[in-house]
Amino acid sequence: MSSLEHLASSVDDAETAVAFTGAGISAPSGVPTFRGDDGVWDAFDEGQFTYGRFQRDPAGFWVDRVDLYRTMFDGEYEPNAAHDVLAEFARDDVLESVLTQNTDGLHAKAATRTNSVGETGETETDANEFTTHESILELHGNARRVRCTDCGTRAASDPIVERAEDGELPPRCECGGIYKPDVVLFGERLPKTVLQRARSLARESDVFLAIGSSLVVEPAASLPRIAASNGATVGIVNLESTPVDSVADVCLRDDVTTALPRLQELVDSAASA
Ligand code: APR
Repeated sequence: MSSLEHLASSVDDAETAVAFTGAGISAPSGVPTFRGDDGVWDAFDEGQFTYGRFQRDPAGFWVDRVDLYRTMFDGEYEPNAAHDVLAEFARDDVLESVLTQNTDGLHAKAATRTNSVGETGETETDANEFTTHESILELHGNARRVRCTDCGTRAASDPIVERAEDGELPPRCECGGIYKPDVVLFGERLPKTVLQRARSLARESDVFLAIGSSLVVEPAASLPRIAASNGATVGIVNLESTPVDSVADVCLRDDVTTALPRLQELVDSAASA
């Protein structure tokens, strides 16, 4: 049995399979990764994007944020085959949940697309008309939104980024409060409920798939370890090795858009066997 077949049969047998993704899953869609060749942290100084700087110097923070936003999100990116596989797995209850560190919203876009042709869209729309999906947990928030630090109102990022580019620094909400990208900045805590949910999913999982992440920042580094120490089969799909490979049962050094459609084929044939 190949390692991919082993992983597919574990996914098929699992009561709770969880996927955890990072920037590598969106790289084939054109979104840059953070580390490695052409990673954005080569071109930008991570230290300029801390919560402390946002609080001290929101105008300066927004000048740099606009540059980063234009580098990362300049264009309408589309989900790729790997996002689609995870969306279909979630729709078909093969996966319990997709935990993502990505702030590009592509998992939600894939889920919307998938559910509009499937039967069971678990779609909920919040008061601000932003669509989220029950099966997706965006651990680091969503960069396509901003949030007012005073009244909490959310808005789409694009027009706010344009206002900052036009010299409104920092951009402000109607209430007078300052807008902050709706993401978890360096030095900012992940919301407690989100972290608790991610940890309990890792603990409960029979299969934990880490896909397209360098697994070097927290909680990325600990979630697969939590899953492994609770007996889950851990699979890692990543072009490069990671510090967590030693606890994984299967490591696939493959492109996500090759590995995930293959995994799906094998899961489908295991399910119909
Ligand atoms: N297929 C598989 N793996 C890929 C592909 C691909 N097509 N393209 C890139 N990768 C791998 C790279 O080899 C790299 O190890 O994806 C990984 C991406 O790693 P990072 O850039 O470090 O991204 P991520 O793990 O998501 O970063 C975590 O760090 O700065 C923060 O907040 C940011 O959420 C981010 C967090």
